[in-house]
Amino acid sequence: MLKTPGFVQIHQPETEGLAEEAAAGLGARPRAAVSPKFFYDALGSRLFDAITELDEYYPTRTEAAILDHHTDAIAAAVRALLGAAPTLVDLGAGNCAKAARLFGPLGVARYVAVDISVAYLGQTLMALQREHPTLDMTAVGLDFSQRLELPAGLLEGSALVFDPGSSIGNFDPDAALRLLREARVLAAGGALLIGVDLVKSRAVLEAAYDDRLGVTAAFNLNLLLHLNRLLGADFDVRAWRHVALWNEPASRIEMHLEARGDTRVRWRGGERQFAGGERIHTENSYKWTREGFSALLRDAGFARVQAWNDERNAFGVFLAAD
Ligand code: AVJ
Repeated sequence: MLKTPGFVQIHQPETEGLAEEAAAGLGARPRAAVSPKFFYDALGSRLFDAITELDEYYPTRTEAAILDHHTDAIAAAVRALLGAAPTLVDLGAGNCAKAARLFGPLGVARYVAVDISVAYLGQTLMALQREHPTLDMTAVGLDFSQRLELPAGLLEGSALVFDPGSSIGNFDPDAALRLLREARVLAAGGALLIGVDLVKSRAVLEAAYDDRLGVTAAFNLNLLLHLNRLLGADFDVRAWRHVALWNEPASRIEMHLEARGDTRVRWRGGERQFAGGERIHTENSYKWTREGFSALLRDAGFARVQAWNDERNAFGVFLAAD
């Protein structure tokens, strides 16, 4: 008998609250700032997938290579911490492909896929269940950037929390520490396996966020089209340009949208005049050193930390336990 995945939506992201949040960001002084979560409408998610195929955008393929190359060592380390047949909690699961590659090597018995919307996860999980008929699967719709907490009873015992893709890079250090503490509570004596992009040269970093084909520029500018729909705004995409810069003191890539000239934008319930050169801040992507991120994990209460890297030290995969 084929198992059926379970579905839980914690709180549906409501369009109204999202619109309000985006409008507040557009009106923010001195600088407008809109959360990177507004990148990911249907087109934005596809543009992000395209970014991961770019020569310049190394994180996705580097992380995959590390996981691939060190599967045996990682599996042995996980087994030593959690024993056989662990529960895998996948944060920001998306298409579940990264986690699915670990099912066999880790001997995963239960899979809990967490993403902002259960609707998208649902289709993926139905297909995945057919390929892994004996695995217990649950899709959880949850915006864990707000708070990472699952319904009681969903996880029995300790778990391996999996947070790949350097999604933690969107969190400033305080928020990252908070998320890691929540992940530690969620793992409940288990472990955290997390992918983190590392500090490297300005040239490599800036190219990764400003590629020659302009895919990242399109990804950034598409946020304006999303806001046009969400807020009834009247952004003219051609009046804006993509800016990506490495802020070395803050150890982060910043993405902005910069007005090419003076331009007025109206939306439901507001408007703003932007002077030429004025920017809307759309994303921070923090980069860590191996030592810096290990220290952050320890601050979050993880006493045992192991890390694997590629030979260029471009990316790190960290396994952390109490
Ligand atoms: C999905 C947050 C990991 O910061 O590299 C890629 C998003 N933005 N190109 C990153 C992103 C521009 C990505 N994360």
